[in-house]
Amino acid sequence: MMSKFSDITKLKEKLINDISKSQDISQLEDIRISSLGKKGFITSLLKNITSQKPEDKKEYGEQVNILKKQITEEIEKVREDYLQKDIIKKINQDKIDVTLPIRNTNLENGRIHPITQVMEEIVEIFSDMNFSIAEGPDIEDDLHNFNLLNIPDSHPARQMVDTFYLPQKDGETKLLRTHTSPVQIRTMLNEKPPIRIIAPGRTYRSDSDQTHTPMFHQVEGLVIDESANMGQLKWCLEEFCKAFFEVSEIKMRLRPSYFPFTEPSLEVDIACRKEKNQLIVGEGDEWLEVLGSGMVHPQVLRNVNLDPDKYQGFAFGLGIDRLAMLKYGMTDLRAFFDSDLNWLRHYGFKVFDIPSLSKGLSE
Ligand code: DAH
Repeated sequence: MMSKFSDITKLKEKLINDISKSQDISQLEDIRISSLGKKGFITSLLKNITSQKPEDKKEYGEQVNILKKQITEEIEKVREDYLQKDIIKKINQDKIDVTLPIRNTNLENGRIHPITQVMEEIVEIFSDMNFSIAEGPDIEDDLHNFNLLNIPDSHPARQMVDTFYLPQKDGETKLLRTHTSPVQIRTMLNEKPPIRIIAPGRTYRSDSDQTHTPMFHQVEGLVIDESANMGQLKWCLEEFCKAFFEVSEIKMRLRPSYFPFTEPSLEVDIACRKEKNQLIVGEGDEWLEVLGSGMVHPQVLRNVNLDPDKYQGFAFGLGIDRLAMLKYGMTDLRAFFDSDLNWLRHYGFKVFDIPSLSKGLSE
């Protein structure tokens, strides 16, 4: 609607025209200052109120204020448009050139600890044989670490290992698990056969010398179904050792042994020989003990409510640290946990250069 005050109408047309013709935010800002600023056109229009007829003064004042509001809103709207356009322009300009070489970052400085590396290798190999991964707590109780594994309180096997006991709480005895075998128990209590798991993890015993540290690592293996047998156990372990040591043939021997939770129990040795200070695994006249295993004891099956007349299975436990030492030629286990950067740079694995991983079993 045309105002009866022609100076207001004219100014409005001029300002709207100026705003629409502005090229960028700074020109818009000039328009804002020249119209709404202290000495701006709209501000000076207000001063003209004194020259209006007395009956027009009120309406004139209102019209100037309406104009002020309209122009403020218009400038704000156009300003928003400019900001949006700026952002879109920036996004379009800032292209990422994926062909550029990477900057010299610190990635190369990081190393994978041999334990992590070997653990991954073991997991990969057993995954290829369709084993899944199980876990259990590091802080265990007598029941899972000993009793249900057929190691009652009075059993001499309890003295065979030096257990770290935690201070008693509410009459309950807790301990740091001395082996990964309690994960067998937890799995059998929670899952129905067929079971085929491995359980890698930390284990603890009060022991320290060149080949023992108070914390070390084991992988437990467990297969339970209606027909699991010793032939399968032997095949599994042979395939594992061949894949792990990356040899096509391996000379292996199974020795009768004793573990309270297996019957019969056996220990597995692999042949080796030394050549110019290097250990060749898989052949030769010397023997390396690599793991303990056996058929799951019927009493253990009963302890976890499985009927030994229906189910049977085999289990094994191997020391990850020992396997790492053998495969990668390290002589002192204690160095694994010294956090010596020089040692880690030498024996650790580069993040993008991991040998054996994703190789798994050979055909
Ligand atoms: N738990 C045993 C240890 O720590 C290792 C072991 C032996 C695990 C025989 C087994 C097994 O599952 O069948 O010395």
